[in-house]
Amino acid sequence: MPQTVRIKTKREIAEYSVEIARGNLGNAGRWAREVLGGTRKIVLVSNKRVFDLHRGQLVKSLKSSGFNPLVHLIEDGEKYKNLGTLEQILEAFSRFEIARTDAVISFGGGVVGDIAGFAASIHLRGVDYLQIPTTLLSMVDSSVGGKTGINTEHGKNRVGSFYQPKGVLIDSNVLSSLPKREFTAGLCECIKHGMISGKGLLDQTVSVIEACHQDRVDILKNEEFAGRFESFLADQIAFKAKIVAGDERESVLKTDARSRKILNFGHTFAHALERATDFRYFRHGEAVGYGILFAAEVSKKLALLDGKVVNLLRDVVLRAGTLPSLSVVESDQVFQAIRYDKKNIDGSLQWVLLKEIGKPVIVPHSQIGDGLIRRTTKEFISAQ
Ligand code: GLY
Repeated sequence: MPQTVRIKTKREIAEYSVEIARGNLGNAGRWAREVLGGTRKIVLVSNKRVFDLHRGQLVKSLKSSGFNPLVHLIEDGEKYKNLGTLEQILEAFSRFEIARTDAVISFGGGVVGDIAGFAASIHLRGVDYLQIPTTLLSMVDSSVGGKTGINTEHGKNRVGSFYQPKGVLIDSNVLSSLPKREFTAGLCECIKHGMISGKGLLDQTVSVIEACHQDRVDILKNEEFAGRFESFLADQIAFKAKIVAGDERESVLKTDARSRKILNFGHTFAHALERATDFRYFRHGEAVGYGILFAAEVSKKLALLDGKVVNLLRDVVLRAGTLPSLSVVESDQVFQAIRYDKKNIDGSLQWVLLKEIGKPVIVPHSQIGDGLIRRTTKEFISAQ
């Protein structure tokens, strides 16, 4: 006789803090001790460039709190966020005999955070992990919210998990050594948050962009600006955290303006650009810079968004810095990558568009149609 056994588990409640302050690398040991308590061993996952720049301060601080961190370095760049690198990380965790009472710290940008977080989520079915993001993009976006994963030949973030870190530590001083391209890429994600959040956050982002037109290293040393910048980071993160708290796992059925999907504004086109160039040409945030403008353009074509707002947004993205030329990109390849995405998400790709600043709206691809997207892709790429 058929039987049914009902299983009810209580969803784990994750609550964690993002600590933001200049010089925080020097507090990493105390912070890790507070967050992890009696955790025995920690493994730092980083890349060579970041680790060479900041190892002194970080390792000293961890040691002074009684940690003796093991280190695993990965290659730098989106093209290394793949299964091969994941395998090497997992192999290192086993070689280091990382147990469930131990912990992982990711120290780097979005690539390091996403892949180290994913490895932490599957090693022994989950060990604690902490994030110390070192790029603007990873500070305001990828280190918060628990999305982890890798890219595969089938696309961006094809394999991954929702796995929240135990804590995030931000030292805004590290941004002084961030390459300019990375900084521009981060600003594009900040603009994205501003566009979907509202005028307040967008204006604040524009004023930071204006200030950073002066020498970034100097301006970050300026006491008054550095304090303002920390508040800016906190406001960016608080916006994202509010959306994540309401829809942690990006529910497939949720399509209102509070859905976590709105954080993907600009990402359909951005992911297609990245895939069409084999993850080697754009920084993720740079592709997002183009992606948010593309989404604004589609919104205009559907008579959702005023052309004047599209021009204003274009101006804001241009002021964030120079984006790599689209002249190397084949519009048909980008369109095929968008279609491919559509096929792989249950045939029901949803576009995040804009009705006005702060008013995102989710529109099914079926309501827009291949024709308009193909035409807009072609026009957009040849116009840049
Ligand atoms: N970066 C989009 C999200 O975390 O949902």
